[in-house]
Amino acid sequence: MLPAKTLANSPSDWWRHAVIYQIYPRSFADGNGDGVGDLAGIISRLPAIADLGVDAIWLSPFYRSPQKDAGYDVSDYCDIDPVFGTLAEAETLITTAHDLGLRIIVDLVPNHSSEQHEWFQAALAAGPGSPERARYMFRDGLGENGELPPNNWESVFGGPAWSRITNPDGTPGQWYLHIFDQSQPDFNWENPEIWSLFDGVLRFWLDRGVDGFRVDVAHGLIKEAGLPDRDLSNGPPAPGARSPFWDQDGVHEVYRAWRKILDEYGDDRMMCAEAWVMPLSKMAHYVRSDEMHQAFNFGYLSATWDPAVLRSVIDESLEAFGGVGAPSTWVLSNHDEVRHRSRLATKFASEGKPMGIGPNSEHKPDEELGHWRGRAATALMLGLPGSAYLFQGEELGLPEVIDIPDDRRDDPTFFRTNGERYGRDGCRVPIPWEADKPAFGFNNSGASWLPQPAVFGELARDQQSGVESSTLELYRTLLRLRASQGLGSGDFAWLPDFPEATVAFRNLGIAVIGNLGTAPITLPAGDILASSGPLVDGHLPGDTTAWIKIAN
Ligand code: NOJ
Repeated sequence: MLPAKTLANSPSDWWRHAVIYQIYPRSFADGNGDGVGDLAGIISRLPAIADLGVDAIWLSPFYRSPQKDAGYDVSDYCDIDPVFGTLAEAETLITTAHDLGLRIIVDLVPNHSSEQHEWFQAALAAGPGSPERARYMFRDGLGENGELPPNNWESVFGGPAWSRITNPDGTPGQWYLHIFDQSQPDFNWENPEIWSLFDGVLRFWLDRGVDGFRVDVAHGLIKEAGLPDRDLSNGPPAPGARSPFWDQDGVHEVYRAWRKILDEYGDDRMMCAEAWVMPLSKMAHYVRSDEMHQAFNFGYLSATWDPAVLRSVIDESLEAFGGVGAPSTWVLSNHDEVRHRSRLATKFASEGKPMGIGPNSEHKPDEELGHWRGRAATALMLGLPGSAYLFQGEELGLPEVIDIPDDRRDDPTFFRTNGERYGRDGCRVPIPWEADKPAFGFNNSGASWLPQPAVFGELARDQQSGVESSTLELYRTLLRLRASQGLGSGDFAWLPDFPEATVAFRNLGIAVIGNLGTAPITLPAGDILASSGPLVDGHLPGDTTAWIKIAN
């Protein structure tokens, strides 16, 4: 039995080995029954998350926002959107989590604001050349009448990254940059006013007791001087490639300044970069000792279900992050990606990552295969030293929801690509708690901002709790063992002499063996502490991972 987890007995570098559970507030629990999750709902369900055995929670944005990109379009960084609740409830959430021994990380969205932010509204009103416009990226258009965008940059969500405004007198005006949706204008980080704004935002939340920040689009804040065209002569750039708007050296100055602010609050506050920068040796620049503490390991998330690929990304991760004295993180799912259970059971298992899966997608997941692969992938991940991120609902083995009708979809990606990319709604469907309650316990009214499929009833938390073979109990077992054996701060060595189809390593006294092939393999002697699926005649079948206690 582990001692009850309290913050008092958690070390200041807790983040080095923490398991961090992502709550997506819209879809976690809905206290007022309006169909959108909220802070009251989260507070009421926090004990279930503490009970899972995680160390911390990362909350996706709950700030005031028109919700054009599900809250990643912030109109007031120091207030709570009424759809989620009040500032007083946010404070209660932080103290309740702390009382349960859970740290709280909040999302910081510094690359862009909402078009409804008072500064953007002031910029629209003020006109070209004004200090108000200088807080964003306004430019005159090209062409005879300024009718062409200032350069060839494209929005991550599809379509051009520039929109032209209409002047108050009805004539066409300047263009502004939005690397994401047109409702998300990019800030001008060359302007010291933006630095001051975010200094204040950091302090506002640190003063309220948050333990850290997940920094959205951390690689995007600074744009190359002169805003040159992106070189597309060799086709679309590889994911994570440097560009005039990604991974400019100037971003690191921002994080060095923020690190100083965090350190003023004590050495237990942390930041995690969402920086799609490859290779990982470049991503590791974001976690040098005077910058952030962690970066999401998107190399790991992007790995195919291939033992050689996984072995190599694990090596690369430990080397790159270890090289700058940071822990590696590990992550399989989040609110932007097809849930890993489904992703690993499509052609993605061997090809590129899908941009959503929908009713007309050519490849649909094989649910049975996904069930086993999803569990095996998690058991591999949680055996690794470092910090791991979980996305709400993966502990229930929730699949990606594919059959969302077009008129219920919400992700701007879907609309900006005319439905060509289904986008991210499929992983954001409100999660089930009790099979027999309205909306499977998401609320008391039955309303749900995205429709829940019937299978969510079978997978509801109450259906799995206490059921030994369930995915929920597998997660509980793995998390308990990871904590009791100290695997997060353990050490790592490959185990020799295993077949090519395996990923087999030792972390302290535990052998973690994943079989990604089809032929069952012989296991080393030792107690089997956990297995993601049943053994067959004492052998480890394909798509299964086992944890075995071996002699040190
Ligand atoms: C990354 C976030 O995870 C995603 O959900 C959001 O749409 C973009 N950044 C823009 O803020």
